[in-house]
Amino acid sequence: MKLIKAFWTKLKSPSKAALGIVLFMGFAGGLMFWGAFNMGMEATNTEEFCSGCHAPIVAEIQETIHYSNRSGVRAICSDCHVPHEWTDKIVRKVQASKELVFHFMGTIDTPEKFQERRAHLAEREWARLKANDSLECRNCHQFEYMDFSEQGSRSAKLHSTALANGEKTCVDCHKGIAHKLPDMHGVEGWQ
Ligand code: HEC
Ligand code: HEC
Ligand code: HEC
Ligand code: HEC
Repeated sequence: MKLIKAFWTKLKSPSKAALGIVLFMGFAGGLMFWGAFNMGMEATNTEEFCSGCHAPIVAEIQETIHYSNRSGVRAICSDCHVPHEWTDKIVRKVQASKELVFHFMGTIDTPEKFQERRAHLAEREWARLKANDSLECRNCHQFEYMDFSEQGSRSAKLHSTALANGEKTCVDCHKGIAHKLPDMHGVEGWQ
């Protein structure tokens, strides 16, 4: 009883040192939490992370200009794709039903299943980029700084017309720049 009382008075009137310790612990804890959170955010932005589920795509991209070019500037997955909110999706689907989780986990887990679903996924990505006027492309490629005299005549013509007047956005004309195209049968405007 005496001990508890002594402890209580100590708590009620903490010495400056104790207060300092408490504050320091709070500060360090906050710092650690912030660090872990950022590490998590960064880890989910790496190609290794994406390759866990999208290995075929990671292999394909190495043949494209966004992987290797004369300027040595690389675009990685997350530069073009806001990492899809898969954690949200998983959480939502766990809440909905367990079968759905398995379905979700298995939708593209074999090359055959991926090929079958690829057109659908590509369409979703085109729709997203169309809706935001190809925001992720424009993070690196800015129309205002395009030097038409340096571009091929076909590029310069289309960029100074359909792109300039806002009729079309990058992904309307540039499909399959980073990946193999899915089977395009039945895709609107494609022949
Ligand atoms: C845990 C596995 C997993 C990881 C890790 C993962 N994905 Fe996915 N991703 C999927 C699945 C499964 C689908 C297909 C969903 C479906 O079938 O509807 C998908 C679909 C996509 C699509 C198609 C468009 C869409 O909204 O569905 C894009 C783009 C994509 N992922 C990009 C990425 C990028 C970029 C990363 C890394 C930042 C990443 N993914 C990491 C499992 C994953
Ligand atoms: C992280 C920056 C970055 C992002 C994001 C990006 N690009 Fe690029 N892009 C580049 C670089 C760097 C090159 C190569 C430039 C060079 O050296 O010629 C390039 C080249 C290109 C080319 C030229 C192809 C060729 O064969 O000459 C096209 C077309 C292109 N990008 C379209 C796009 C589109 C469409 C998007 C959005 C879906 C996009 N880019 C997103 C950096 C980026
Ligand atoms: C109306 C169609 C159209 C739109 C919209 C469009 N492009 Fe292009 N772009 C082309 C064509 C066609 C080429 C030439 C491709 C070829 O010759 O292989 C081209 C070429 C390019 C090149 C290579 C330039 C060269 O001549 O070396 C880059 C980089 C590029 N586009 C980026 C973009 C970006 C980024 C956007 C969006 C801000 C965009 N384009 C919007 C049609 C378009
Ligand atoms: C330069 C921009 C760019 C980069 C870099 C990029 N993507 Fe994509 N991605 C796109 C576009 C645009 C589409 C829409 C389909 C198309 O045009 O090929 C797409 C489509 C997809 C799809 C849907 C299925 C398909 O094949 O169309 C998946 C999954 C995907 N990307 C994952 C990735 C992963 C994983 C990486 C990193 C290895 C990556 N992307 C890097 C621009 C990019």
